[in-house]
Amino acid sequence: MKYYVAGGTLAFISAVALLIVMTVIEPARMESFTRSYESRQIEQGALIFESNCLRCHGPQGEGTPLGPPLNRADLFNGEYLSAIGWSSTLRDFLNSTVSAGRPLPSDGTNFPQPMPTWSEAFGGQFRPDQIDNVVAYIINWGDRAIAGAQPTEITDDLMMGSDIFIELPEGDPEAGQALAEGTLGCAACHILSTVGPPWAATDGLPGVAVRGAIRVQQDNYTGNATSADEYLIESVVETNIHVVEGFQPSIMPTDFGERITLHDMADLLAFMQTFE
Ligand code: HEC
Ligand code: HEC
Repeated sequence: MKYYVAGGTLAFISAVALLIVMTVIEPARMESFTRSYESRQIEQGALIFESNCLRCHGPQGEGTPLGPPLNRADLFNGEYLSAIGWSSTLRDFLNSTVSAGRPLPSDGTNFPQPMPTWSEAFGGQFRPDQIDNVVAYIINWGDRAIAGAQPTEITDDLMMGSDIFIELPEGDPEAGQALAEGTLGCAACHILSTVGPPWAATDGLPGVAVRGAIRVQQDNYTGNATSADEYLIESVVETNIHVVEGFQPSIMPTDFGERITLHDMADLLAFMQTFE
């Protein structure tokens, strides 16, 4: 009898314990789910920003002669919104500005072109979820901008990432050769075998240094590069964005952007440029 009581109590206690554990874990699980959803949104937004906004607003939103800085404290701390009399949230401001653009430049700005329209609803190219993503990406600069931190300074030992338009330091072809023949293994597929397209000129095709200029002109080209050099960089850091005819995607490792620095990329580029 005693045991029954104990057993019942035990079952009751474990049920309560389970309930407590669940109520503690569930919000944490939800939160981590929300966090990973948000970071996916930011990642997607970063890609949209790089291909569409960077040329006017700068790689880190620091502004260029074509567009104002977006990565600035007064945009995130409310000063700017109250100065222009915006009564809703920052997200809302960004969402409507990006969606509708600014068909006519507002007074006092002397940018050569107005801010384009981006949302399909206004004749632009993006779906609402894509607008949300790029807005999430801009908002993700907020904490650092308010803290007064400068956008990350671009130094040579920064990891390359996937921005093919980033300004590279001067490269050294010999250092690039050492990388290609060493741990990165490029030579194994591109020089010593034909697992990948040979870098050297072959019958009918010039070397890889000139090939890019031809590839980006072809109708079936699916990447963002506009020059031979950009094409070479893109081939390394956005491997699958364009797959060379006759080859399969993902044979070439897709993570070089996370493994090499800006300096490494510059060296590899300088080495590839020797294959004319
Ligand atoms: C052709 C250049 C150009 C491109 C491309 C461009 N913008 Fe703009 N953007 C501008 C200009 C110019 C302004 C300022 C317009 C004005 O105030 O009259 C602006 C303003 C903005 C503003 C409002 C800033 C403020 O201080 O009020 C946001 C937000 C913005 N752009 C986001 C984006 C996003 C996101 C993209 C990419 C999807 C993008 N822009 C692409 C030129 C550009
Ligand atoms: C395991 C084999 C392999 C390795 C290692 C490899 N690649 Fe590739 N690479 C390929 C294949 C396969 C393709 C063709 C498919 C494609 O376009 O993604 C390719 C495509 C390319 C192209 C485009 C060539 C053209 O003709 O348009 C360039 C440039 C390139 N790789 C550079 C590199 C560099 C630089 C490295 C080292 C950092 C490297 N690859 C490492 C297999 C490899």
